[in-house]
Amino acid sequence: MKRVYIKTYGCQMNERDSEAVAAMLRERGYEIAPSEAGADVVLLNTCSVRDLAERKAMGKMDVLAYRKQRKPELVLGYMGCMAQSRGASLAEKQSAVNLVVGTQRFHRVPEYLDRIFAGHDGAIVDVVEEQGSESTIKDHLLGTNGDRPVVGFVSVMQGCEMYCSFCIVPYTRGAERSRPMAEIVEEVRRLVDHGVKEVTLLGQIITNYGRKDMRKRNGNSAFVQLLEAVNEVKGLERIRFTAPHPKGFGDDLVQAYVDLPKLCEHAHLPVQSGSNRILKAMNRGYTREWYLRIVDKLRTAQPKIGISTDIIAGFPGETEQDHEETASLMRDVQFDQAYIFKYSKRHDTPAADMADQVSEREKERRNQALLEILNSGMARANQKLVGQTVEILVEGRSEKVGRRMFGRTRTNRLVFFDGSERHKGELLPVRIERASTIALYGDPAIHNL
Ligand code: SAH
Ligand code: F3S
Repeated sequence: MKRVYIKTYGCQMNERDSEAVAAMLRERGYEIAPSEAGADVVLLNTCSVRDLAERKAMGKMDVLAYRKQRKPELVLGYMGCMAQSRGASLAEKQSAVNLVVGTQRFHRVPEYLDRIFAGHDGAIVDVVEEQGSESTIKDHLLGTNGDRPVVGFVSVMQGCEMYCSFCIVPYTRGAERSRPMAEIVEEVRRLVDHGVKEVTLLGQIITNYGRKDMRKRNGNSAFVQLLEAVNEVKGLERIRFTAPHPKGFGDDLVQAYVDLPKLCEHAHLPVQSGSNRILKAMNRGYTREWYLRIVDKLRTAQPKIGISTDIIAGFPGETEQDHEETASLMRDVQFDQAYIFKYSKRHDTPAADMADQVSEREKERRNQALLEILNSGMARANQKLVGQTVEILVEGRSEKVGRRMFGRTRTNRLVFFDGSERHKGELLPVRIERASTIALYGDPAIHNL
C-alpha cells in the first residue's frame, strides 16, 4: 500500500481540505502516513496569504527534492492556494515536482496519484475552475487510529469576492460558492453520529454564505438560517464558525448569539486597522466607529462573549498617526485574542502597487508595539478568571504542554488540566488555578459539585 503524507500550511480551511483529501485517498486504497518518514508521496497543501507562508512551502519542497535524488521514486506535489496562483510555474521551477493541484480540484488528487503510479510521464498540473467544487470537500477521517474526534469541521462555502486591497484570497479561491443547506446539515449529523460534539463551519467569507442562492427569511440572512438549522441537530453541543467579515454581523447575527443555545459566545471580528483612512484604502467597507458599534452590540447581547481579531501592521501609506489609531482601538476593545501580521505584498493585489510602502523595520516595530498591547490585555483578562469555574469541552490530550488534557471554553479560551482520558468528549466544569497570557490551567471541579 502506498503511503501518503500531507503537510498543511495556513488556515483552518486548508486543514479541512487536507483532511478531506486524506479521507478520499484512504478510500482509494492509499495509507495516510503520520509523518514524511517512509512516505511514498509527500503533498504540501499551501498558503499564499503572506510571502513567508509561500517561502516556507517552497523551502520544504527544495529539501524534499534533495531527498528525491537518493529516492527517485518519491512522489512530490503541491496543492492549495499557491498551487492555484502559481500553477505550472511550480513544476517548471522544481523539476522534482510530480503534481500541482489547485483549490477547486482537490478531489482529483487520488486519480492523479493513481496515474503517476501507473507510470505517467512528466508533471500533472490541474488548476482549472470547476462548477460545484464547493461540494467536493465533504469526506472525513472519522475514527482512524482508533481516535474519536470531539470537534469537527465542515466546509460550507468556498471563495471570496470582497477584494480587500491587500488580499490574494479572491484570486486563489475564486468566486463565492455555497453548498446547499440540507447537505451541510446532513454532514453535521454524520459527524455527531460519530461522537463529534462541536462543529466549526468553515468558509473564506462565511458570513456571505448563501447570499447568491437564498432569500432573507424573517429578516435573517442565509448564514443565520444555516446556523438555525445546524442548531437543531440533536446531540450537537456547540457551534463555531470562521472566517467572517465584520460586515456580516448584522442585527440578525447578533441576535443569533442570544437565541441559539449551541452558538458559542465567541466572535472573530477581523478589524485590520483602527484608522478610517487605512480601512478605506483596504476596501474594508466599514469605519472604526461602525466596528466599535458592532463590538458594543455583541457585548450587550452576550456580556461574556470572547472577541478576537486580525490586524495588519504597516499597510502601504500607514502613518504613525494611523498606527496609533489601531493601538487605541486595541486598548478600547480589549480583544481576547488577536492575530497581528506585518503587511506582506501579494502580487496582483491593488495594495502591492500603492505608493508609500512601509519599511520592513517600521512594520516590525509597529507589529511589536501592537503585540505588547495585546499580551498585557490578555494576561490581565486571563488573570481575572483565576478562582472561577468555567465549563470546557474536553478535546483530548495535548502532545505538548506536559501531556495534559485540554479543552476550550465556549468563549474560546484554552484550558489545560491534569486528568484522565475518560473526560474526553465531556462538558466539564474546571476550576481555574493559574493563568498565562495564552492559556488557563485548572482542576476538574467535579468533586466540588
Ligand atoms: N477570510 C480569510 C481571511 C484572509 S487571511 C481567511 O481566513 O481565509 C487571514 C488574515 O490574514 C486576514 O484577516 C489579514 O489580517 C491577514 N492578511 C491577508 N492578506 C495579508 C497581507 N497581504 N499581508 C499581511 N496580512 C494579510
Ligand atoms: Fe481576503 Fe477580505 Fe476576502 S481579507 S478573504 S478579500 S474578506
